[in-house]
Amino acid sequence: MKESNDWNATKYNKHADFVSNLAMPVIELLNPKKDEKILDLGCGEGTLAVEIKKFNTNVIALDLSEDMVEKAKAKGLEAYVMSATELEFEKDFDAVFSNAVLHWVKDSKTAINKIYAALKDKGRFIAEFGGYGNIKYLTDAMEEVFNNNPQYGKFNNPWYFPKDIEYKELLESNGFKVEYIEIIPRPTQIDDILNWLTVFANGIVSHLSNEEQENFKKEVREILKPKIYTKKDGWTADYVRLRLKAIKI
Ligand code: BEZ
Repeated sequence: MKESNDWNATKYNKHADFVSNLAMPVIELLNPKKDEKILDLGCGEGTLAVEIKKFNTNVIALDLSEDMVEKAKAKGLEAYVMSATELEFEKDFDAVFSNAVLHWVKDSKTAINKIYAALKDKGRFIAEFGGYGNIKYLTDAMEEVFNNNPQYGKFNNPWYFPKDIEYKELLESNGFKVEYIEIIPRPTQIDDILNWLTVFANGIVSHLSNEEQENFKKEVREILKPKIYTKKDGWTADYVRLRLKAIKI
């Protein structure tokens, strides 16, 4: 689930399956129990919701992308198109789980409020997403290319990568008790940066012509190559995770 619904599930599956593959520690933190009702907020194509369901839980999966929701339904999941800031639940869930999504939600206060409302008393909110410093090499390179090409307009960073202290305060001021919150640097091997940009940064350049978009990606790649590419490891993105467990009190 990101703030626009232009995800392409096929491209995502091909170039971004590492997102789900690396999320098992978050499922461990969730610790799903039999018969629990769990909301997967930003389910993508449903890979993690399927894992959570294997614990004999009842999972509702949500995503902003119709394409992703269709893929999730095809996996047998109960899935709906819904935004994190427009959740329509009231004390329905034992837990809300969210992986690699909340950095797309700039209105974090509203999202936290809706998550709080969706949880039963003592329900838990387990999440991981981009934390402070996440993909700094990448965003700096994108900004540099915008600055080098004033005809592209202003670089609009679509992401929110908060500090742990900042997010903890937000959660606590919305009634949560934060049991655990940590910033975890996690350099992540990706395939060619061009593919990463195509899957994740298309919104940043969607106002440009196809030719400009291709040039943008090539220029970003040139800047990044000496910084995040080696022959031995290929491309490594400077991911930083913010992982948390908070309880509704
Ligand atoms: C992330 O998972 O940290 C992320 C993915 C795509 C764009 C921005 C951040």
